[in-house]
Amino acid sequence: MDASKIMFKPGLMKGERILVTGGGSGLGKEMAEAFVMLGADVVICGRRGEVLKETADEIMKKHGGTCIPIPCDIRVPDAIHDMVDQAWSGGPLTGLVNNAAGNFISRTEDLSTRAFDAIANIVFHGSFYTTLDIGKRWIAEKRKGSILSILTTWVWNGSAFTVPSAMSKAGLNAMTQSLAVEWARYGIRANAIAPGPFPTEGMSKRLNPDGTGGGPMRDQSGGNPMGRVGEMHELCNLAVTLMGPGAEYINGQCIAIDGAAYQAGGGNFSALTAWTDEQWTQASAAIRAQNEKDRAKRTV
Ligand code: HXC
Repeated sequence: MDASKIMFKPGLMKGERILVTGGGSGLGKEMAEAFVMLGADVVICGRRGEVLKETADEIMKKHGGTCIPIPCDIRVPDAIHDMVDQAWSGGPLTGLVNNAAGNFISRTEDLSTRAFDAIANIVFHGSFYTTLDIGKRWIAEKRKGSILSILTTWVWNGSAFTVPSAMSKAGLNAMTQSLAVEWARYGIRANAIAPGPFPTEGMSKRLNPDGTGGGPMRDQSGGNPMGRVGEMHELCNLAVTLMGPGAEYINGQCIAIDGAAYQAGGGNFSALTAWTDEQWTQASAAIRAQNEKDRAKRTV
C-alpha cells in the first residue's frame, strides 16, 4: 500500500480497536496497516503464526502503534472465543473485519462435499461464528461496534466455477443486511465491501493458477473497463470510511470497488466455460500443490 495516498488525517482512528481476520497477508494485511497508520489498535488473526508475527512486526516498524498477532483457525468456535478473549484483554474491540477467506476455481462437478466444506467452513461458518462471538460481547457490555465483511460482486450475480465461495459470500451479504437492521438499536453497524481484482498471492495462485487469467484476473491485461486492477490504497480508503468515525449512517450496504467490472462483464469466472479438460487438469494440479504448500505453514 502506498501510505501517501491514504485520504485521512493522522489519528483519525485513535481509540478504535479492530480485529482483522486473515490479517497476516493479502487484503487483510493492507487494511490492518491502514488502520494502524491512522491510530487504531489492530488485532490480526490467521492460521499461520509466523506469517502473522512477521506482518505485525512489519506494520509496527513502519508506523509504530499496536498490531497484535493471534493465531486462530476461525473454523473452530472455541478457538475464536479464546482468541477474542485474548484480544479483549487489552481493551474491548470496537470493530471486526471479516476478511479471512478460501477459494479456488473448479468445475462444480469435480468438487467433493469436503471441498465445498473447505471453503464454506471458513467463509460462511467462520465469519458468522466470529461475528456472533463479538456481537454478543458488544450487546452484553452495551458497546457500539462496526462489522465489515469483505465479499465480492458475485453476491449479486453468482459465479460459475467458484460456487462454494459465491454461495458463502452471498450468505454473508444476507447477514450484513439482516444484522444492520437487527443490531442498529445496539449501535452496531454492518457493512460490506465487494472488491474486484486486487491481486494477492492467495487469490492469484488459486483463481488464476496458469497465469493467463480466465476470470476477473484477466484484467491485468486490460479486460477491466478502467484498464487496470485495483490499488491497495483505494481499498483501504473505502475500508477506513466504513470503519472510522464520520460516516456512521452508512449501514447495511455492500459497496463494490472494481472499476465497473461487474457492470461490464459480471466480474466473475463465466469465461472459464471455454476451458478444456486439459486446462482444468492443469489448474487443479497447480491449486492442490499450492494448498499443500500453504498447509505446511499453518500452526493452528
Ligand atoms: C477440486 C479440490 C481442489 C481442486 C482441493 N480440493 N483443491 N477439489 N479441485 N482444485 C478438494 C480436496 O481434494 C479435498 O477434498 C478438499 O478440497 C479439501 O482440500 P485440502 O487440500 O485439504 O484443503 P484445505 O487445506 O482445507 O484448504 C483449501 C483452501 C485453503 C480452503 C482453499 O487453501 C485456504 O485456506 N486458502 C486460503 C487462501 C485463499 O484461498 N485465498 C483466496 C481467497 S480469494 P477431498 O474430498 O479430496 O478430501 C477470495 C475472493 C476472490 O475468496 C475475489 C476475486 C474477485
